[in-house]
Amino acid sequence: MKVLITGGAGFIGSAIARQLIDRGDKIVLIDNFNDYYDPALKRDRIKAILGDSPFSLYEGNIQDLEFADSVFEKEMPNKVIHLAAMAGVRSSLEDPLLYEEVNVRGTNVLLEMAVKYDVENFVYASSSSVYGNNKKVPFSEKDRVDTPISPYAATKRATELIAHTYSHIHKLNTTGLRFFTVYGPWGRPDMALFLFTDKILKGEQIDVYNFGKMTRNFTYIDDIVSGTIAVLDANFECEIMNIGGDKEETLLRFIEVIEENVGIEAKKNLMPIQPGDVPSTVADISKLRKLGWEPNIRIEEGIKNFVNWYKKYYKIV
Ligand SMILES: NC(=O)c1ccc[n+]([C@@H]2O[C@H](COP(=O)([O-])OP(=O)(O)OC[C@H]3O[C@@H](n4cnc5c(N)ncnc54)[C@H](O)[C@@H]3O)[C@@H](O)[C@H]2O)c1
Repeated sequence: MKVLITGGAGFIGSAIARQLIDRGDKIVLIDNFNDYYDPALKRDRIKAILGDSPFSLYEGNIQDLEFADSVFEKEMPNKVIHLAAMAGVRSSLEDPLLYEEVNVRGTNVLLEMAVKYDVENFVYASSSSVYGNNKKVPFSEKDRVDTPISPYAATKRATELIAHTYSHIHKLNTTGLRFFTVYGPWGRPDMALFLFTDKILKGEQIDVYNFGKMTRNFTYIDDIVSGTIAVLDANFECEIMNIGGDKEETLLRFIEVIEENVGIEAKKNLMPIQPGDVPSTVADISKLRKLGWEPNIRIEEGIKNFVNWYKKYYKIV
């Protein structure tokens, strides 16, 4: 099977690519190596995670129809995992037009290509942020999600709606995965675990929003990989699924585990919640569990793996 992964140099994309190569799939990656965070980390992921394994890599923008068409025409992928996106909630408040261009138009371009080149299954990244300030927990796929509270969340919800129209009109199999706070080695520098580890190691103060009372279903990267591949293999006609850890953790507990692993107590600057941030994201994962999927890694193990990777990558003794 040949699988095209957009955002293939990203945190999640590179990890999924590794697993698919290991099971014998052919892999095609698209990424534009943009500078939302250090592109060197993206290139290092490709080098370290994929190394000498066989894969093709195309550098370009997913919003560029001609570019996307040329890749699909040459590679004729059987399936697509679409992860390329502008992925930060807070930065979407500063540049909503870019988020719309990449996340909405980019997804639409890929859906067009998926239909034109007869793709069997189109799995794409949505986000737990679509639940906005949903009061009912855990968040279920059946809940109404028409009140996003950040431009990022609105673009992710828009892609779910657009994907639905492609399934309906063109009978394209699509599944949107609502990822819940993914973390682990090779993670994103704009996310809490990376930022906190970096600052704690430097002895700098960390900003702890909502006074640390935020709760999350943190989801370890390996669990995201296995869940995404299960959905890739399932070929649903048109689905939306939560994918998240099964334990609700507070931000303060999360920081405590980082402190334990780094061996330094954090200087915490307790602050109110930021605009666009969601106080609690807790996933109902019963739908994905029906595929036999289970989240296996708890934060105690996952954060330890991250801190070990971080120290090795940045050569901290
Ligand atoms: N990491 C999380 O906690 C999380 C949570 C919810 C949803 N998601 C979604 O999962 C997906 C992957 O996230 P990630 O954490 O791996 O992010 P990431 O930023 O590490 O990966 C995204 C990749 O897409 C590439 N990209 C961005 N714009 C592009 C464009 N126009 N053309 C081609 N490539 C482009 C980037 O260079 C990057 O390598 C994203 O769609 C994100 O919104 C992630």
